[in-house]
Amino acid sequence: MRVMVCGGAGYIGSNMTAMLARQGHEPVVFDNLSRGHKSALGNARFVYGDLADYDAILDALKRYDIEAVMHFAAFIEVGESVQAPLKYYHNNFCNARNLLAAMQDAGVKRFVFSSTAAVYGTPEKTPITEDMPTKPINPYGDSKLAVERMLHFQCRTGMLRYAALRYFNACGAGEEATLGEDHRPESHLIPLIIQAATGKRQNIRIFGTDYPTPDGTCIRDYIHVEDLCKAHILALEKLAEQTELVYNLGNGTGYSVREVIDCVKRVSGRRFSVVETDRREGDPPVLTADATKVRQELGWKTDFARLERIVESAWAWHLNHPNGYED
Ligand code: UFG
Repeated sequence: MRVMVCGGAGYIGSNMTAMLARQGHEPVVFDNLSRGHKSALGNARFVYGDLADYDAILDALKRYDIEAVMHFAAFIEVGESVQAPLKYYHNNFCNARNLLAAMQDAGVKRFVFSSTAAVYGTPEKTPITEDMPTKPINPYGDSKLAVERMLHFQCRTGMLRYAALRYFNACGAGEEATLGEDHRPESHLIPLIIQAATGKRQNIRIFGTDYPTPDGTCIRDYIHVEDLCKAHILALEKLAEQTELVYNLGNGTGYSVREVIDCVKRVSGRRFSVVETDRREGDPPVLTADATKVRQELGWKTDFARLERIVESAWAWHLNHPNGYED
């Protein structure tokens, strides 16, 4: 299929673009390069454009005869979203609305949306199933949930078929560790620990050691970027027969912050300083996915269920890209 990948120069989008091409699809990246990296694009067809620009989206959809859209072009920093909510509602919600309007006008019906575990807020129990209450506790999660609701109602008009994929903690490097994670500034746990291991940062800070978990640190469900991308392709195919899909994407296994730090120590063989600090605001103690639904309905299987393998891929990427992407 000819698939427009919005945010295809970013971390997950670039992995998706490469996987689509490898599997015989024709990706067209649409990206404003505000967060992504040109050098992550490889040979992919690229349209420089902004999702605030309806005309540019419509033009790209028509020019390349696009059949489906995948949307990775959102802001993702929970903390920043609390400081600047309007920025998040603008890019994550208003620009998604723009994209849907252009799709409607171009007659493009299939949409795969990057949603997030943040739509659940602080869950009453874990692992989380898709039918549990959605009660986001920050503008980031709320902006994503607002898009999910817009998708639901647009779908009911018959003009859209969509899959909303609720990611847990995306990580690792895909395409044989050539496409990795390079956010600026970096806020994600695994790349930050790796930066401590390579000496790029003085230490890794643990945000809170008094959580109600076995070792007192937060537990998350880490899912390899390539496993995530595989689910997008399955969802895209499923939309030939289904109109509305909502799935959690996680391994179902939780690792604490301390366990992740220990894993990076083992994989890298490096020693580095670990500093215990106060909690970061808005962090739920435990977030793990029940991904039974996507496994059963789409036959999704993960190749990187073990944290070691995820960290190995991230470590390999960082060793080969000591300063991140060149541009
Ligand atoms: N953490 C530290 N030290 C750090 C960075 C993170 O202890 O320097 C801890 C956090 O407190 C958290 C865990 O490591 O407990 C993971 O933190 P990340 O920032 O890597 O990821 P989050 O779980 O906060 O957020 C991720 C995505 C979000 C998404 C969320 C959904 O990055 O985009 O999952 O739950 F919203």
